[in-house]
Amino acid sequence: MYKITPVFFVLLSLVTTTLSRPSKSSSWNPLASLPIPRQEHTTVYLPPSTIAVLGGIIPTNDTSTLPIATTSLVEFYSIPNNTWSTSVPLPRAMNHINAAVVNRSIYILGGLADLGEMQPAWRAVPDSFIYSPGSGAWTSIPGLPVGEARGSAAVGVHDGKIVLAGGMSDLELSGNATQSTVSVVSIFDTERREWVKLPSKARYLPEGRDHAGAAVVGGKMFVLGGRTQGQENVKDTVFILDLCNLNAGWSVSKARMPTPRGGVAAGVVGGKVYVFGGEGNRGTESGVFDQVEVYDKVRDRWESKGSMRVPRHGTYAVGVGRRVYVPGGGTRQSGAPVADFDVFEA
Ligand SMILES: *[C@@H]1O[C@H](CO)[C@@H](O)[C@H](O)[C@H]1NC(C)=O
Ligand SMILES: *[C@@H]1O[C@H](CO)[C@@H](O)[C@H](O)[C@H]1NC(C)=O
Ligand SMILES: *[C@@H]1O[C@H](CO)[C@@H](O)[C@H](O)[C@H]1NC(C)=O
Ligand SMILES: *[C@@H]1O[C@H](CO)[C@@H](O)[C@H](O)[C@H]1NC(C)=O
Repeated sequence: MYKITPVFFVLLSLVTTTLSRPSKSSSWNPLASLPIPRQEHTTVYLPPSTIAVLGGIIPTNDTSTLPIATTSLVEFYSIPNNTWSTSVPLPRAMNHINAAVVNRSIYILGGLADLGEMQPAWRAVPDSFIYSPGSGAWTSIPGLPVGEARGSAAVGVHDGKIVLAGGMSDLELSGNATQSTVSVVSIFDTERREWVKLPSKARYLPEGRDHAGAAVVGGKMFVLGGRTQGQENVKDTVFILDLCNLNAGWSVSKARMPTPRGGVAAGVVGGKVYVFGGEGNRGTESGVFDQVEVYDKVRDRWESKGSMRVPRHGTYAVGVGRRVYVPGGGTRQSGAPVADFDVFEA
């Protein structure tokens, strides 16, 4: 019988945004629940008014296997209508997908998949696809280079290029519960539709990270917190790469996250990076973090912003204007998908 080992995962996130108007206090508001509870999905903003939720894991009643299954489900949320609709499924079911939007198209650049092994595990697959609302279909694009496939990478977008930093290549769901963290960095050029060779100093993160937060602000990519080789090996670092000067390579910020954690979600508002939730919290029964903390790259400083309305991990955030949308995730460490969807107003 399957026993839920304290083994799952979670996510990270990326986002883009503009914005300015100062607000008095931040707040949370519930939105229309996801049609199906969902975790370890990826979330992107598809302009002008759609939030897309891609892949991940959903509950299943198939008792011969795990209580959760990896899905190819794609759901679109309409911001003005507060409604969900089911879109074209991914060509392959994946969780911990690396995804980004460039030029109004969704790019999927690998992730983790269930290969149907006797001892359940999720393994890196390089499969990559593009979806544009105009075509209404997923099309294959060149997969991740040999040896660089992984899921749960920190993802950033700059100048038509998608940056994947770190991630995990294997997650054993039973037995030795191995979680293989990687430090490699990959860049996909969306205009040329090819993978780019990186200068040596940009080629690897200072240390392996998966389930980190990610953001690009002012041409710099930030990789916030995350973990190495397991949920509880949580980190408080901020790694920085100047995407306008890759030769300078990665640096480590002096400012550490107030609460070290992985399995976080991150969203950008007004040039500041908000980091939500996470797992691997030894101080709570659920193992989940509820903290909201914001990183100001100009001052290189962190500040606390209270708690999540529904604390969770394994979710993904996306900033649009002054708001950050946070659909689904798990309310307990490991696999416990929920349908809650809420929005944070900075
Ligand atoms: C599992 O079975 C229960 C009871 O029949 C049902 O309510 C639930 O919707 C099912 N869940 C899934 C994911 O099929
Ligand atoms: C939003 O609602 C309007 C008015 O009912 C409708 O025409 C439109 O198709 C809806 N859009 C989505 C994406 O659901
Ligand atoms: C964990 O188990 C898998 C197979 O279940 C094996 O391939 C892997 O080498 C093991 N890892 C360690 C660190 O023992
Ligand atoms: C953006 O997408 C449009 C239509 O989908 C295409 O014609 C254009 O070449 C794309 N631009 C870039 C920079 O990729």
